[in-house]
Amino acid sequence: MPFYVLILPSRCFTYTEMESEILCFSPTGGGKKVAEAIRRGLENIDGGNVVPCIFAVPVYGGHMPELAKKRFKDVNSRDKRPAVLVAVYGNRAFENALADLDAFVRGRGFNPVAAGAFVCEHSYSTKETPIASGRPDADDLKAAEEFGRQVGMKLAFGDLSSVDAAGLEDEPSPEDSVRRFSAFVREYREMQASRPQKYVPEYDVELCSGCGACIEACPAGAVRDDFSIDDSLCIDCCACVKICPAEARSFKSPFAVPLAENFSVRKSPRWIL
Ligand SMILES: Cc1cc2nc3c(=O)[nH]c(=O)nc-3n(C[C@H](O)[C@H](O)[C@H](O)COP(=O)(O)O)c2cc1C
Repeated sequence: MPFYVLILPSRCFTYTEMESEILCFSPTGGGKKVAEAIRRGLENIDGGNVVPCIFAVPVYGGHMPELAKKRFKDVNSRDKRPAVLVAVYGNRAFENALADLDAFVRGRGFNPVAAGAFVCEHSYSTKETPIASGRPDADDLKAAEEFGRQVGMKLAFGDLSSVDAAGLEDEPSPEDSVRRFSAFVREYREMQASRPQKYVPEYDVELCSGCGACIEACPAGAVRDDFSIDDSLCIDCCACVKICPAEARSFKSPFAVPLAENFSVRKSPRWIL
């Protein structure tokens, strides 16, 4: 089974040619690792001429990010090409993200034949507030490969049946964690309604070596040439924070503590096909 991956700047994989197999919006690289592991699993199976396309997106606020939709806007399939849908999330919940991705790919003529949700390190994870730190780990990637292998088998048997990705349910979190986190979100929203405040990554000019990695990594084009951040473009993905070799950038998300405190129980990959 031939595979071609087109890697573009800003750590997004974007389709410009129909032979590309991975279509991935992955600001901090977790989704990219998972998509590549799935592709490795697929590669081991000879599915004949059926070459699926793997779509991978992160979960933002329980949804597929709007910027991913914009990046993928020119992607279309004329022949109901099989699609493997992947949502990666920071161990809280993936909620509507797979349903969003399902609707998105169907709208562009693809046929979703499998869907999976995998945990990756949360964009807001820090040393002080670890959230799914170090994931995807070896076990996650092994599971992703196994998922790819199962998709390959399905296609090799000529089974092109669609899945309803919205039917894949979240692994439940402890009830008291969900209650505490929901209370925090309510309070946060009330505070934002009365005193709106946009949080974006901070920048320590003393530590910065001027390498420009953050400008290159930002999928939103929000880091200016002078390294300041355009608040109106920043999506808080933390690509600039994670890529900075000098640790000159940090993001003090008000969500980091409640996420670290309430979603430390390890969740497992799950999929349907
Ligand atoms: C703005 C924003 C919102 C997020 N919302 C969620 C969420 O609703 N549930 C969750 O579990 N993780 C959430 N995350 C964490 C990301 O889904 C997670 O870090 C993901 O693995 C990032 O993918 P990437 O490494 O491919 O960029 C959010 C991250 C950001 C930046």
